[in-house]
Amino acid sequence: MSIVVTGATGQLGRLAVEALLRRGVRPSEIVATGRDTDKIKDLADRGVVVRRADFADPDTLAAAFAGAEKLLLVSTTTVGERADNHRRAIDAARAAGVSLIAYTSAPKADSATMKLAIEHAATERHLRDSGVPFVILRNGWYLENYTDQLPVVLEHSTVAGSAGEGRVNAATRADYAEAAAVVLTTEGHAGSVYELGGDEAFTLTELAAAITAATGQEITYADLPVADFTGLLVGAGLPQGFAEVLADADLGLARGELFTDTGDLSRLLGRPTTTLAEAISAALAANTAR
Ligand SMILES: NC(=O)c1ccc[n+]([C@@H]2O[C@H](COP(=O)([O-])OP(=O)(O)OC[C@H]3O[C@@H](n4cnc5c(N)ncnc54)[C@H](OP(=O)(O)O)[C@@H]3O)[C@@H](O)[C@H]2O)c1
Repeated sequence: MSIVVTGATGQLGRLAVEALLRRGVRPSEIVATGRDTDKIKDLADRGVVVRRADFADPDTLAAAFAGAEKLLLVSTTTVGERADNHRRAIDAARAAGVSLIAYTSAPKADSATMKLAIEHAATERHLRDSGVPFVILRNGWYLENYTDQLPVVLEHSTVAGSAGEGRVNAATRADYAEAAAVVLTTEGHAGSVYELGGDEAFTLTELAAAITAATGQEITYADLPVADFTGLLVGAGLPQGFAEVLADADLGLARGELFTDTGDLSRLLGRPTTTLAEAISAALAANTAR
C-alpha cells in the first residue's frame, strides 16, 4: 500500500504524515510531497519517500503519484489558482490509478457563500465527476488561526473581527490531520462528506473571554465593519486580496457557515476534539518557552 500526501511541506500535510506513521503505516509506504522538498528532508531521513509535486506542473504530478494507492490531496494556498491546481492533481491521480482521493475542503463548500468556498466547491465537483472514489474532508477553521494571534491580541487587549456573534467550531490542525489519517487507514469512507470541526462552538466574544480566563488580562472583542477589519489585516502586513478573503470569511462565520454540529471530527478520532482552552494554554506555554 502506498499513501501519497500532498502539502507535506506545509503544516497540515506534515501532521498527516506524522499521524499515518503513528497509526503504524510503514515509512516506505508513505510518499510525502510538496514543492520545496528541502523542508521535509527529516522525513526522508526517517524512511518516508519524498517526491517533488507542483500542481502547476503536471509532469511532476505523474512522477509523484506513480504507484499510489491512496491520495491525501491537501488544498493549496494560492487563492485564485487553486481550482486549476486541484483539477490537475485529481486528473493525475486518476491517471495513476489511485483507488481513493481524500480532499481537504472547506465547511459547507457546496452551499457556503463566502469567497473561500468557491474554489473548494469547484474542486469537489471535479472530484465527483472524476469517477475516482473520494472522501471529502470539509475541514473547519483552525484553532491556530486564533492562537497564532495571541501575542498581538495580548498587546492590544483586543480580539478584532467582523464575525458578530456568529459561532465557529474550530479545531487544531493536528486533530484534522489525525482524522485524515484515520480515513486513509480504515475502511468504509468512500463517498463520505465529513463536516469537520471542534466539539464546541464559540463566538469571538467567547474567544476573548477564554483568553481573559487563561491569562488574567481583560480582553474584549471588537466587532468591526468589514472594510475596517480588512484595513487592519492589511496594516498587519497581509496582501490586500488575502485580507479581503479573510475578512469575508468572518462574514461567513457570522452567517453560520463555519458552524457544524455533526460531531464528525470527534467520531473519526474516537475521542473529544482539542478544546479552545487547551489550545490557548498550549500556545501560551509555547510563547513563554520561546
Ligand atoms: N481551515 C483553515 O482554517 C485553513 C486555514 C488556512 C489554510 N487552509 C487550507 O488548508 C491547507 C493546508 O493548511 P496548512 O496550514 O498546512 O497550509 P500551509 O502550511 O501553508 O501549507 C500549504 C501547502 O500547500 C503546498 N502548495 C501550495 N501551492 C502548491 C502547488 N502549486 N503545488 C503543490 N503544493 C502546493 C505548499 O507547498 P510548498 O510549501 O512546498 O510550496 C504547502 O505544503 C491550505 O493550503 C489551505 O488551502 C485552511
